Amino acid sequence: MQPIRIGLLGVGTVGGGTIELLKTNAADIGRRLGRELTISHVANRHTERAKSLLDEHTFISNDVNDVVNAKDVDIVVELIGGTTTAKDAVIQAIKNGKHIVTANKKLLAEHGNEIFALAAKQGVMVMFEAAIAGGIPIVKALREGLAANQIQSVAGIINGTSNFILSEMRIRHSAFDETLKEAQELGYAEADPTFDIEGQDAGHKLSLISSLAFGTPIHFDQCYLEGIKHLAQQDIQYAEELGYRIKLLGITRKTSAGIELRVHPTLIPQARLIAKVDGVMNAVSVQSNMVGQTLYYGAGAGAAPTASAVVADIIDVARLIDSNPHNRVPYLAFQPALLENTPILSMDNIISSYYLRVSARDEPGVLGEIANILASEHISIEALIQKGVVHHDTAEIVILTHSTREGTIKKAISCMENLSRVIAPITMIRMESLHAR
Ligand code: HSE
Repeated sequence: MQPIRIGLLGVGTVGGGTIELLKTNAADIGRRLGRELTISHVANRHTERAKSLLDEHTFISNDVNDVVNAKDVDIVVELIGGTTTAKDAVIQAIKNGKHIVTANKKLLAEHGNEIFALAAKQGVMVMFEAAIAGGIPIVKALREGLAANQIQSVAGIINGTSNFILSEMRIRHSAFDETLKEAQELGYAEADPTFDIEGQDAGHKLSLISSLAFGTPIHFDQCYLEGIKHLAQQDIQYAEELGYRIKLLGITRKTSAGIELRVHPTLIPQARLIAKVDGVMNAVSVQSNMVGQTLYYGAGAGAAPTASAVVADIIDVARLIDSNPHNRVPYLAFQPALLENTPILSMDNIISSYYLRVSARDEPGVLGEIANILASEHISIEALIQKGVVHHDTAEIVILTHSTREGTIKKAISCMENLSRVIAPITMIRMESLHAR
């Protein structure tokens, strides 16, 4: 049988890892697939790097068009990233009838609806396991392993850089900037690390997860994004004292009113397994109606783990290359014609519980005023502690609420901030119990 011919775009960290993996594990992959995989074409801005990793049998160019237009390429593996060259190359490759494997979450989150529609028309596969949580086979789990279930919610630590920073801030009391620099040096952060710390990277991944879970088009433009930059050391420590841990979570939940789609720092009980996921590791917890809660844990970034997902997709495409396109697993888990445009809920309409830190004058009656405001909005208090006098006559009051609509808590916060004895903006962090249902 003829080998499957791969055209590789981009030989950066993940591209290099993919070449390496295909060499190291060639024998095992061959035994699994029963067919040879060969990198026949490569495009990389610096051809010297590609030449140093490949032998003379591979055609190497600095122009992606030489790969996407080559007749003797079956699968185009896009590992360039971004939405300029990568988008044009993927679209041209699909038009040329090539199957696509990509690790590009931004491309699919922003242009996936268009790309999948074109791919369906051309009868080609577009695989993207490496785009979400690196080496964790979460796309496989959502599209295939859980296909018998109604998925109810997904919550994940899906940005390793933020998780690394939050873990270091908690364990070592490290400063934010210094920890981010370390994550960049270790090669975990995005080219533009604001994507990690401001939530876009997690938002890209969550938007894809949500579509896979609930069978909707991709709605990255409606995903709420709040990063970790504004988190204060004392909130991390207070959360710890109260039995919680702060994680940057991507949460998507199907409710009768619509779909919640949100990325933000979240207090979760320390007792949950996912709360123990530290450093750059990722974890995704899925709540489904038949199997209950399942949890997927592993490396969310790095050359070898991401290459593991890329090559698993290449193997899948190689196996299905001669199959009837109508019998393949749908791009977004559900048949394209049966995707439902379920509304995405505005943040005012999500339901959550909340951590509030209020800086107030340490005077008689202030607690009563705060409690009255919460009571008047029917917000029930789960816990309330006063953290003593911080400076001069100022005390910090930490309140954990029971579940309420976000619009309601915002109204209560605004009333509290209007109290003359509340002397600074109130810190609000959402909380999730994440218990198995
Ligand atoms: N910058 C990403 C992260 C890499 O930190 O998780 C994987 O998408």
